[in-house]
Amino acid sequence: MPNHPPQNLTVATTGASGGIFLRQFLQAVVLDRQIQTVNFIASDSALRVLAEELGLRGRSNLVGQILGSSMRDSRGRPPRKIRLQSNDDIGANVASGSYPADAMVVVPCSVGTLARIAHGDASHLIERAADVSLKEKRPLVLCVRETPLNKIHIRNMYRAADAGATVFPLIPAFYYRPASLDEMAREFAYRVLAHLGLPQPAAFRWKG
Ligand SMILES: Cc1cc2nc3c(=O)[nH]c(=O)nc-3n(C[C@H](O)[C@H](O)[C@H](O)COP(=O)(O)O)c2cc1C
Repeated sequence: MPNHPPQNLTVATTGASGGIFLRQFLQAVVLDRQIQTVNFIASDSALRVLAEELGLRGRSNLVGQILGSSMRDSRGRPPRKIRLQSNDDIGANVASGSYPADAMVVVPCSVGTLARIAHGDASHLIERAADVSLKEKRPLVLCVRETPLNKIHIRNMYRAADAGATVFPLIPAFYYRPASLDEMAREFAYRVLAHLGLPQPAAFRWKG
């Protein structure tokens, strides 16, 4: 972990179900003033699934579409601290260990992306940035979503965890009785951020 709360995050999204978890995570990241820079990468499959789940239409103003209207400025632009990177650009900043990324989160993480990360297949920016996180011993959180899991998925989760990643399955809690899907996904986002050293004041805390 860096010796300060992460200020420079890499957030990737892939073609697993769970678009609302991505939306709530990005919204929380925008609102957290400790986070200065977010490099955001979406796989092609992510766009396909986000079209189904969030009604996204193409890549135009992608970040603004994911965040929703409440987070855009008067001209419809998303906050500047989120920088969209192309998954095809293996020359982007986060492809190099010399770039000072503090931590990376893949939310949601498909089992396809999990497999490529677990096997060091760094042919696209998402997997390359994850590979860099592991080699530089930086936090890498994989919010894997699939059910049921086959042995290949389980082996790949083991491989990724063994290499230093945190497998943080996209499994929300229910004991705080979320009143909506958004609240459920928001609390999940808060748990991921707390895991990275960015506890959120609004997060539910179990008092026993
Ligand atoms: C509507 C929809 C839902 C999907 N849900 C999942 C899922 O929950 N988990 C998963 O691993 N793959 C899921 N997939 C399949 C992935 O999108 C597919 O394997 C894709 O190749 C993953 O590519 P990526 O890892 O580059 O994003 C889903 C696909 C569609 C169209």
